[in-house]
Amino acid sequence: PVLVVDFGAQYAQLIARRVREARVYSEVVPHSMPVSEMLAKEPAAIILSGGPSSVYEAGAPRLDAALLEAGVPVFGMCYGFQSMAQALGGTVEKTGAREYGKTGATIAGTGSTLFEGQPSSQIVWMSHGDSVTVAPPGARVTASTAGTPVAAIEDDDRRLYGVQWHPEVLHSEQGQRVLENFLWQGAGIEPSWTPGNVVDDLVTAVREQVGQDRVLCALSGGVDSSVAAALVQRAVGDQLTCVFVDHGLLREGEAEQVEKDFVAATGVDLVVVDARERFLTALAGVTDPEAKRKIIGEQFIRVFEQAARDVVGRHGRSDSDEEHPVKWLVQGTLYPDVVESGGGEGAANIKSHHNVGGLPEDLQFGLVEPLRTLFKDEVRQVGLELGVPEGIVWRQPFPGPGLGIRIIGAVDAERLAILRRADAIAREELTRAGLDRDIWQCPVVLLADVRSVGVQGDGRTYGHPVVLRPVASEDAMTADWARVPYDVLAHISTRITNEVAEVNRVVLDVTSKPPGTIEWE
Ligand code: XMP
Repeated sequence: PVLVVDFGAQYAQLIARRVREARVYSEVVPHSMPVSEMLAKEPAAIILSGGPSSVYEAGAPRLDAALLEAGVPVFGMCYGFQSMAQALGGTVEKTGAREYGKTGATIAGTGSTLFEGQPSSQIVWMSHGDSVTVAPPGARVTASTAGTPVAAIEDDDRRLYGVQWHPEVLHSEQGQRVLENFLWQGAGIEPSWTPGNVVDDLVTAVREQVGQDRVLCALSGGVDSSVAAALVQRAVGDQLTCVFVDHGLLREGEAEQVEKDFVAATGVDLVVVDARERFLTALAGVTDPEAKRKIIGEQFIRVFEQAARDVVGRHGRSDSDEEHPVKWLVQGTLYPDVVESGGGEGAANIKSHHNVGGLPEDLQFGLVEPLRTLFKDEVRQVGLELGVPEGIVWRQPFPGPGLGIRIIGAVDAERLAILRRADAIAREELTRAGLDRDIWQCPVVLLADVRSVGVQGDGRTYGHPVVLRPVASEDAMTADWARVPYDVLAHISTRITNEVAEVNRVVLDVTSKPPGTIEWE
């Protein structure tokens, strides 16, 4: 792999993604990892990420110079560039020439590896206080900016490169090409990795892990669990049993999509548990959001646990199967979870266990996490490769508690039916307008305990408002309200008030996050 050494900035994962977009496999490792351990991974190249503002800061992560002497191509970015320049004998100083944001860079002369085939002046994205003032011996200076004479260095003999800016952010116009030049030319790596062509490797790995044992998977209808299940199915066929708990809080068509389309496309052995009544009963009269969440979570665990026992029982009874017990549980853990929990095998497992919740001790499963090396967009590519229906592959995020937390007030069957209709109309119109990939998600919220007066058809109505909550976001941690065109909003509003009798008012939520969360509860 190409190792991206994380110096503590938020950019390491982004760099890793960009490397993969250049069709080269990458992994993020913490800067605290000993050089010997990094080299044991036989990296094809190493990238040093940005990090804290200054190499002089107390406790600033240090670069072990041994990394630069191992003969492995290295590319330093921003802080990584400075610590590299310093370790190679260059000079880093506080010049006071702080640069932040889009900056013009001038490429010096010809014969550069990083800038081959690019314009001689380009916009780059900077964020630094210190500067490299003297390049290390043997390194050529190949770019500069007004405030930073040494903005890029290249040493083709030792295959060491660095830029002061952040090529991984899109504001750096040529950023991806600079990165590709490093990977393909500087480091001489063949660009052959794609999420599609790793499917075979992932399948083989699952097969080796699982052997002849049986595997269980809780299918939610979301992208991650669906693709994980499809992959495991590809690997071990009907050794896998999927359990889908229909809690009745899904949107229109979603349960059918899982029960019919997904099964048809992948051939998984699916157990559907119709728990709609059970959830409604447990939720009756409950209005507090946290109480709802807790109830839904607990019921889910109980229903899944029972289904798991049934599956275990079913296979345990047959003599031939007794030596192949249900030993594994599939989890749709993704690479960001793995990196964020420290990258170690154990750390991510602890977090994944939380996703399943408190499964009882006597049901001891090992975890199969076939997506743990992949980013979300790559999971989608793998899903397409495996033939998972597009409606599932491109599904926007949908909360586990489902429509239960989009009815403000108590949840009942009638209210669910109203919200399901209104939500389906909004989704239909947003899809028709081609906005699905621009919008992160668009919760539709029923203000069930609020009534408003309207005129519909022949007379006065006393109905309920629904709220449209379209948001744009990168990761759901922060979000902005999405500027959906007025005519699309108008279509949604007209259709909902025409087609859903109980709703006589459609309102738009124009709050960013923070202060508002994406969901209303
Ligand atoms: P908030 O409302 O916290 O939502 O801004 C952030 C993202 O998380 C989703 N969400 C949930 N997902 N269980 C889930 O699996 C939950 O209880 C839950 N609550 C919110 C929400 O849809 C958004 O994408």
